[in-house]
Amino acid sequence: MSFTTGLRCRECGRAYPIEPIYVCEVCFGSLEVVYDYVAIKRHISREKIAAGPNSMWRYKELLPVGGDVVDINAGFTPLVKAENLGRALGLKQLYLKNDCVNPSYSFKDRVVAVAATKAREFKFEAIACASTGNLACSVAAHAARAGMKSYVFIPSDLEQGKILGAAIYGPTLIAVEGNYDQVNRLCSELAEKYPWAFVNINIRPFYAEGSKTLAYEVAEQLGWRAPDNAVVPVASGSLFNKIWKGLNEFHDLGLIGPVKTRMFVTQATGCSPVATAYESGSNIIRPVKPQTIAKSLAIGNPADGYYALKTIRESGGGAAMSTDPEIVDGMKLLAETEGIFAETAGGVVIAGLKRLVTSGAIKEDELTVAYITGNGLKTLEAIQNSVVKPILIKPDINSFEAALGFKIAATVERNKSQVE
Ligand SMILES: Cc1ncc(COP(=O)(O)O)c(C=O)c1O
Ligand SMILES: [Zn+2]
Repeated sequence: MSFTTGLRCRECGRAYPIEPIYVCEVCFGSLEVVYDYVAIKRHISREKIAAGPNSMWRYKELLPVGGDVVDINAGFTPLVKAENLGRALGLKQLYLKNDCVNPSYSFKDRVVAVAATKAREFKFEAIACASTGNLACSVAAHAARAGMKSYVFIPSDLEQGKILGAAIYGPTLIAVEGNYDQVNRLCSELAEKYPWAFVNINIRPFYAEGSKTLAYEVAEQLGWRAPDNAVVPVASGSLFNKIWKGLNEFHDLGLIGPVKTRMFVTQATGCSPVATAYESGSNIIRPVKPQTIAKSLAIGNPADGYYALKTIRESGGGAAMSTDPEIVDGMKLLAETEGIFAETAGGVVIAGLKRLVTSGAIKEDELTVAYITGNGLKTLEAIQNSVVKPILIKPDINSFEAALGFKIAATVERNKSQVE
């Protein structure tokens, strides 16, 4: 049973039926899903949710899906209390939402699970996407699970972990000589011509809803409350806005108290259209040509950037940007303090969080959640010259001791005597 009643234009409010459409034919505004919240409220409760599956589908009533879903078990990832990183940054209540551990190793499994379900429901013959990398992996994985064909378009200069991480599922993988914004433009044209479900184009209103589960889970895992601050990596801005929407829906349904969460955008300095517009006090996003190691966030013309600015201002949040060396330092700091190996987007979040604490935008006692959305094994290139190299030795003790410059014989003797 689905609680969706239709689609609606975000700008002029015009109503549309549930179809694979995404833009208003009157004003060209983007469309979003409309729910029957009164009916949802009758169906949903903390207890029912808690008794649901350990995946994003425990919040199915708040997603635009009805019957069978395409499921690779996305979501319900750990919320980690980060004592060590908190100490390093000067935060007493820091939590990390670790979405690196999703089935295809990024939060994109949440959005694609919904999109793939709708693609099958709408009887498309194939699933497709324009991707900065993680979406490619997730679309290919979900298509494999659904037994559907997939066409995955990526910029040709992506990291190996993203290319191979998508290729393994057997999609038709198309590397475009251009940046993401060019790939996206091409895919928008292809979506007009081919009967394919482009998850982030013609299925976008449904797809985007999957990100709300990152708000629901955090609220539930915090014991049914919203955090004081949410620090989020931003590319198109969709994830950022949907976390805000999800928290507010939970409040409106009576599942949590008032939402006073301040929403913080984090971007790389080399691609920061949203953070830059916010800092200059503008409502206009000026498109940029991305130049950063954070390739997953390299969207120069973000589709939901304008709404992300609105979310920052509505929530009393802010924005931070970080240089490439700071992003690498952020990845290392996260790994060395908490044992979490995140991709460059995670480095953007940690480096941004550091700035936000230093500037006083985020305070020591506030409950802060940093969203870690993708796995570090996909962006090895970013850190390969910045981490310790293995010490190469021959397979004998002498070689080991010579290499490390010490003798451990004495330690062995001492251990022996303790055993005796
Ligand atoms: C790891 C990771 N985090 C965050 C994002 C940002 O998502 P959005 O485009 O919804 O802003 C992306 C987008 O590709 C991503 O790959
Ligand atoms: Zn409209």
